[in-house]
Amino acid sequence: MKIVLLGAPGAGKGTVAKMMAERLGVVHISTGDMLREAVAAGTPVGLKAKSYMDAGDLVPDDVVVGVLMERIQKDDCKAGFVLDGFPRTVPQAEALEKGLADMGLSLDLVVDLVVGEEVVVQRLSGRRQCRDCGAIYHVQNMPPKVDGVCDRCGGRLYQRDDDKPETIRERLRTFEEKTKPLRELYDGAGLRRTIDASVGPEETYQAVVDLLTAEGVLPGREGAAR
Ligand code: AP5
Repeated sequence: MKIVLLGAPGAGKGTVAKMMAERLGVVHISTGDMLREAVAAGTPVGLKAKSYMDAGDLVPDDVVVGVLMERIQKDDCKAGFVLDGFPRTVPQAEALEKGLADMGLSLDLVVDLVVGEEVVVQRLSGRRQCRDCGAIYHVQNMPPKVDGVCDRCGGRLYQRDDDKPETIRERLRTFEEKTKPLRELYDGAGLRRTIDASVGPEETYQAVVDLLTAEGVLPGREGAAR
């Protein structure tokens, strides 16, 4: 399976991708998580990315494309992957297509998680994430059993720096301007399918699995990944 999860900030890409990784064994690649790790580790990529991320803007294409292409060439990606947060611009989509073609591969499907802006703002402003394992929670929609503590690993939950109201607004503006054109691009390629992601996480996950099954990307309900 080689799929892209498209969708606005807070649409639920990370939540669905983590469920797919846990339940289907698919490799989940989040450029946002990779960049946050690079920032925390103070690597050269992290130093370049930080100011863009803090401002709610996109990290330059050459930086992100380099990180992503290196990642998908690793052995664990041979059986496929779910891309979460990449591509986000037309040049990134073109670089992905070329990089995959050079490896003799192509995308199976682009799944666009569609939600309204009010839902997105509510989701982002209540999001909490585990510092240790990256699990995603929401103070109202998906609260942890113990406040501030990860159910899975006991790690501490934190609020992302870019989940402040002013940065959320900028990220949504960036999505409108730079990422929405991908819808047309992938419609033209016959690859984009939409999912109503305004429902709960389990229903959204199931709708994605049903879609991938109907499209032949998954062989059977929750079956082995192609
Ligand atoms: P990134 O980390 O990719 O952020 P994003 O795309 O803005 O997406 P989010 O992680 O905010 O949202 P999500 O859709 O994954 O939602 P989630 O599942 O967490 O990128 C961050 C930054 O890195 C960018 O701004 C940019 O600077 C840089 N970057 C990353 N990739 C880049 C690229 N390719 N090019 C350039 N720059 C790049 O859910 C959100 C909340 O809602 C959670 O609290 C969750 O619990 C809750 N929730 C989820 N689903 C549901 C549901 N169905 N019902 C109720 N609540 C739900």
